[in-house]
Amino acid sequence: MSLKVTARDWARLLYYFSQNTFSFIGVVLTTSTAVTLVAFWIYDFILPGPPHPYVGILIFLILPGVFALGLALIPLGILLRRRELRNAGQLPHIYPEIDLKIPMVQHSFLFIGAATVLNVLIFSFASYKGVSYMDTTTFCGKTCHTVMAPEYSAYQNSPHSRVECVECHIGPGAGWFVRSKLSGLRQVFAVTFHTYSRPIPSPVKYLRPARETCEQCHWPQRFSGDKFIMKMNYKDDEKNTPLTTALIVKIGGRQANGSVGIHGRHLDSGSRIHYISTDAQRQVIPVVYYTDDQGKTIEFVSTDIKVTKEELAKGEERTMDCIDCHNRPTHAFELPENAVDLRMSRGLISAELPYIRKKAVEVLKVNYPDRDTAHKQIVEGIETFYRTNYPDVYNSKRALVEQAADTTAQIYLRNIFPDMKVTWGVHPNNLGHNDFPGCFRCHDGSHTSADGQTISNDCSACHNLLAVQEENPKILKDLGLQ
Ligand code: HEC
Ligand code: HEC
Ligand code: HEC
Ligand code: HEC
Ligand code: HEC
Repeated sequence: MSLKVTARDWARLLYYFSQNTFSFIGVVLTTSTAVTLVAFWIYDFILPGPPHPYVGILIFLILPGVFALGLALIPLGILLRRRELRNAGQLPHIYPEIDLKIPMVQHSFLFIGAATVLNVLIFSFASYKGVSYMDTTTFCGKTCHTVMAPEYSAYQNSPHSRVECVECHIGPGAGWFVRSKLSGLRQVFAVTFHTYSRPIPSPVKYLRPARETCEQCHWPQRFSGDKFIMKMNYKDDEKNTPLTTALIVKIGGRQANGSVGIHGRHLDSGSRIHYISTDAQRQVIPVVYYTDDQGKTIEFVSTDIKVTKEELAKGEERTMDCIDCHNRPTHAFELPENAVDLRMSRGLISAELPYIRKKAVEVLKVNYPDRDTAHKQIVEGIETFYRTNYPDVYNSKRALVEQAADTTAQIYLRNIFPDMKVTWGVHPNNLGHNDFPGCFRCHDGSHTSADGQTISNDCSACHNLLAVQEENPKILKDLGLQ
């Protein structure tokens, strides 16, 4: 009985106060966005495929925002109206009666009830849609296009091009989800007010530990064995003489006799190695701690790197995981020489064109003001070179020249973004040691322990070199590859 009375009193109260402009605007906003949203969802359902990034922002983020604003305005209007009346001393003692027997009143209550249920449904679905939209690659990679363009471009033709950004950058579970959405909010501000850093700094400070992302798909203890890798280089001579490098990389993993090789030695039984780096990019590593099989921890200190106690104390301490070697598993920016060699080995830049290796690398290294100019001048540079120096080649192999010119321009466009200050080698790759310090940040032969041990610098600890930049290496014949 008393519940019924309270409910009735409340209903009267609300009914009385809800007759105000704010609440009215709220109702209009809610209703119109609701209709638009539902219409779009039906359209989205019939025509699947990601919407244009800006349409996506409108439909998945802005409209639901307006919808929520509308919903919020209704009670806000009621409160304001109440206060206004109270301040004016006009609050009635008894609110006008709502007689449920009057059909009009009945209908409006039915309507409010149904609208509330519908609003809750729409709001839940809109939030769900909005959140899952923010997790799509379209949103991450394309919406803030200048900002994310370098990472998106390098990602698109990488081994992980089918893995969504969020699988590595956020991973499963609620904790990181909330954290990433909060930092995302800050990023939206940075993009809006152009305060973001150029290039976007790497390493990512709050990247989720690889244990919870990479290891959702990869199994580090798996024994990967030894991997045969063959690479082609080309000389800068007229014939673009091909050179072969062949090596067997000892990836290893867990074996019957314990953990061996590159993966096995760094990753087994959790975290065996941690280190202190003193620069932002983790390239300078003066101290490394290694816990051996007996559980004893050895401290390796570099005799080459000179740091003071204060610098060391300010350094970043970190447990080694996948990212310390595979820091470019998907944003694999290339260097001009390697990029040209790779395209030549695939036949996209023909080795039949005299001096093409030298010329292509040369035009790639020029400092262009922007990407459009670069595109035009790279193509022109290569075509003009053959037109003037090798007119016969230009006339007889026109298609090859054009393909080489276009491919070279594409190398530039994939890797260089002047707007974001992303140029050659801005993001070091830690896998290897030829282009960047990589493994040699620790394995340089100068990291020594108090009892005289040194982090291995033995070439054969990590790989067997079968051929290093050789013309026609015998090993290829032995392996039946030539
Ligand atoms: C296979 C996992 C993976 C995927 C998929 C991935 N990233 Fe990354 N991302 C990384 C790693 C690893 C780093 C470097 C982290 C480090 O060094 O601390 C990184 C770094 C970045 C950075 C910092 C700048 C840089 O180049 O280091 C940005 C920005 C970024 N990613 C955006 C994206 C976007 C946008 C997508 C989707 C289009 C994406 N990532 C997909 C793993 C991934
Ligand atoms: C959602 C699953 C998924 C996640 C998460 C993931 N990967 Fe992968 N990764 C793959 C698949 C699938 C391939 C094989 C692609 C192929 O062979 O084309 C692959 C390939 C690789 C390769 C071999 C690349 C090559 O050149 O052949 C490396 C190295 C690698 N991943 C490292 C990582 C690292 C490091 C992370 C975390 C930053 C990571 N992956 C996160 C699915 C994933
Ligand atoms: C100490 C450095 C190091 C660490 C740490 C490391 N890797 Fe590797 N990984 C390598 C090297 C070196 C290779 C071989 C190089 C290549 O494939 O070009 C490799 C190869 C791979 C491959 C390709 C295997 C194949 O058969 O082609 C995958 C996948 C991979 N790593 C995943 C991971 C994952 C996931 C982690 C973290 C759990 C990890 N790695 C940690 C150095 C490392
Ligand atoms: C942060 C420092 C650090 C980095 C970076 C690092 N390692 Fe190591 N690595 C160590 C330590 C410490 C050991 C254990 C001491 C030892 O065995 O020499 C080790 C051991 C190894 C071993 C076993 C050597 C043996 O004789 O059994 C291999 C193989 C290896 N690392 C390969 C690599 C490769 C390949 C890379 C680069 C992709 C790399 N490491 C990067 C610190 C590092
Ligand atoms: C700590 C491990 C480690 C040590 C020690 C090491 N390397 Fe390497 N090396 C690597 C890795 C990892 C790669 C990259 C494999 C790949 O391409 O994925 C590599 C690649 C190479 C390559 C091929 C380069 C290319 O064209 O990509 C050569 C050549 C080479 N190493 C020579 C040497 C020589 C010579 C030594 C001895 C002074 C040595 N390495 C010591 C880990 C090591």
